[in-house]
Amino acid sequence: MAKVCRHRAGTDIRTRLCSLVGLALGLGFFYVTFAHALPWNDDMYWQPELEAGTAARPPVAGSVPTTGIEPPMSSRLTERIKTGLRVRNPVEPTPQSIQNGEGLFRIYCAMCHGEQGRGDGQMVGKVVPSSDLRAERIRNQKDGYLYATIRSGGLVMPAYQHALSTTERWDLVNYVRHLQQQEAQRDQSQ
Ligand code: HEC
Repeated sequence: MAKVCRHRAGTDIRTRLCSLVGLALGLGFFYVTFAHALPWNDDMYWQPELEAGTAARPPVAGSVPTTGIEPPMSSRLTERIKTGLRVRNPVEPTPQSIQNGEGLFRIYCAMCHGEQGRGDGQMVGKVVPSSDLRAERIRNQKDGYLYATIRSGGLVMPAYQHALSTTERWDLVNYVRHLQQQEAQRDQSQ
């Protein structure tokens, strides 16, 4: 009796194992054959795409950069003066802004205008003329005039429209004003 039972139990386990293996094989077969063809399995594979590096997409018409846009500004002297009357300085001359302007001035401007803005940079006389940014003529100009000159350049002065952000250009204006204030204080104490 016990023998029959053991035998039966053995058959049970084998049958169960067989059906489990069969199920696994069946599922595997189903997966390999059909599952990949289900619509939700390759929805990221089939998609419109461009070969890498084949095309830079132009922005949609009317797109505006997240940093905003500026009205066009000319490098002509009369236009820069007009810009000075029209454009207000939106960046407070905080110590942070002046410090940032100082760092940028050393990189982009000092070679012509000199470390202290006196118009005595290394390139002056050899390659180009320069302006003493502390001169009264420039002190009397509006912030917008300085800004427009930095953005669009002058007759000789290069434009920094593409090299610097709007805020960086205003930081430079604030730093030039800071240099001019130092000069004004020096004039008074003499
Ligand atoms: C290649 C030399 C050169 C460099 C670099 C340069 N400038 Fe000038 N800058 C000039 C010259 C020359 C002028 C005189 C105006 C002109 O070019 O017509 C000038 C004029 C100016 C003026 C207006 C003053 C005026 O004469 O009416 C300002 C403000 C000024 N520069 C600021 C800067 C700042 C800020 C930088 C750096 C971002 C800078 N410049 C970089 C050469 C230079």
